[in-house]
Amino acid sequence: MTSNELRKKFFSFFEKRGHKMVKSSSLIPDDPSVLLTTAGMQQFKAYLTGVVDPMKAFNSKAVCSIQKCFRTTDIDEVGDFSHLTLFEMTGNFSFGEYFKERAIPLSFEFLTSEEGLGLDPQRLYVSCFKGDDEVPADKEAIEIWQKQFAKAGINAKVGERIFLYGREKNWWEAGPGPCGPDAEMFYELDKPHDKKFGATCHPNCDCGHFMEIGNDVFVQYNKTKEGKYEQLAQKGIDNGRGFERLVMVTQNKDTVFETDLFAPIIEQIKEVSHALDPKITRILADHLRSSIFLLADGVRPSNKEAGYILRRLLRRVMAYSSKYDIHADLFPLVLDRVVDTFGEAYPELNNKKEIIDAYYTEKGKFEKTLGEGIKIFNGLLSQSEGETFFVQLQRMLGFKKVQKTLSGKDAFSIYETYGFPKELMQEFCKEKKVAFDEAGFDEEYKKHQEISRAGAEKKFGGHGLLLDTGELKAGSKEDMDKVIRLHTATHLLQKALRNTLGEEVKQMGSDINPERGRFDFSFSRKLTEDEVKKVEDEVNDVISKDLPVYFKEMPIEEAKKTGALFFFKEKYPNVVKVYFVGPDAALGGKPYSIEFCGGPHVEHTSQVGSFKIQKQESVGAGTRRIKFLIK
Ligand code: ALA
Repeated sequence: MTSNELRKKFFSFFEKRGHKMVKSSSLIPDDPSVLLTTAGMQQFKAYLTGVVDPMKAFNSKAVCSIQKCFRTTDIDEVGDFSHLTLFEMTGNFSFGEYFKERAIPLSFEFLTSEEGLGLDPQRLYVSCFKGDDEVPADKEAIEIWQKQFAKAGINAKVGERIFLYGREKNWWEAGPGPCGPDAEMFYELDKPHDKKFGATCHPNCDCGHFMEIGNDVFVQYNKTKEGKYEQLAQKGIDNGRGFERLVMVTQNKDTVFETDLFAPIIEQIKEVSHALDPKITRILADHLRSSIFLLADGVRPSNKEAGYILRRLLRRVMAYSSKYDIHADLFPLVLDRVVDTFGEAYPELNNKKEIIDAYYTEKGKFEKTLGEGIKIFNGLLSQSEGETFFVQLQRMLGFKKVQKTLSGKDAFSIYETYGFPKELMQEFCKEKKVAFDEAGFDEEYKKHQEISRAGAEKKFGGHGLLLDTGELKAGSKEDMDKVIRLHTATHLLQKALRNTLGEEVKQMGSDINPERGRFDFSFSRKLTEDEVKKVEDEVNDVISKDLPVYFKEMPIEEAKKTGALFFFKEKYPNVVKVYFVGPDAALGGKPYSIEFCGGPHVEHTSQVGSFKIQKQESVGAGTRRIKFLIK
């Protein structure tokens, strides 16, 4: 069965059983609690909680869909036999129409009957919720599953065929909204158990003997924004089955990459690269395909949110291409294969020109930073043996204080500032026999993720793209980009004013809207024309140097020691965020500007554009105001 036949089979199976087919929603979700669509249920949250009437929208209380989904949680596992960043999820949903009593038989029938996928029930295993202080064990689901297995002559004992796990495995929720315990379905593969992962195998063992192929969520709670669980008046079903995995088992392949969904992409990559490690080939296939889908849905590379995820994917592709000397440009070649395979199911992919243009814009930016870096240090590697690679790297990046070993913190700093993927650093380390502090790196990474997540929540506050920090005001995504650029310009302006006029200059206030920036500062007289020009030139000079902009969180006392500027009128918490413009001092660089600031900012100064002072005025004794524009 080809993957396209399987698509049709899935829809006709569920349509015949009273489900209305609904198209996949975009990867850019309406749901503000997630950056990208991560599950089929996202577009149906309001129907699952009973807030919106499904009869009006679908004329049915049961629907089915194949939803494109994106998950970064699995990114480190991509390259094995089944994990992907972008995947399709086949799902059936009930909005108060049926619950466990019908969902479980439907799942069993779809997976094992001839009208469905015809999989071997002997290879099917299930996990159910074992219960905790708040929610009891799911006895009902266990019993219904036992009945299904009995139909196939299987005595499904708990601990043998049905396994029980706690919340970490058998509970589903995605931000606030519908949630509940779930029952997952696993398929037993030929690959034998690997004792490295534990004495005995079980469905959630990571050895690869079992693979998850489906999940029925028994939706009966609503998680509030405050994190409370309320019983829902209406019980429902949220089902998800990884489409690529279903294709893999029906096509009898050992990996998703050998199915007809990926084979043409893999072949294409192999054709232009020589004897590439299979894992790297798969990573490239995954990341290219994901990037293409993200671009087709209108995500563009940036330093924020979904754009940042896309940028990382593309940079990994480009870094690997460079590292492994793949001279052909993989992107347009793979785009053709992706459109051949998925263009019918996802017509937005046919917008090839826009997708390619966006890719080349990013490629240009990338080549300026990472691409050149790799070329240079490929050269360095073949030279002096006296210094470790990281010493050379630090010199190359212009750090004055050079360190002999690479700590997790410094590795993260290089990753964050220059976009060197972790895997590449690890590989280079291995080549040069330098220890890489992976745990330290991961810890930094996690910290940063938590910080950015907290930032995103504050910013969006659940009301779409609205920014109002008191200082920055934006009502749309476009406005937001503009005020962020103006915000970085404010930091550059303050520094250039101090360099030109002296340390008397201190920030007294600032206000930014999408039209212009306004900066008030202490200074006793009007600026001369020459001074205005000098300040303008300095800001534009820093912009053209394309310096990195980044932040660190640190205790306030430590932050003050960095020489950061801060706003005297303001009361700061014990731990503050400090924004830097220019090379990292911890690695021996000298930042141009350091300020206490909550952000957000651009990633590189060139993103600010060109800077112009529009006018200066006086606002009371000893305080001047500058209004400025960017283009
Ligand atoms: N929403 C459930 C999942 O993604 C089906 O696993």
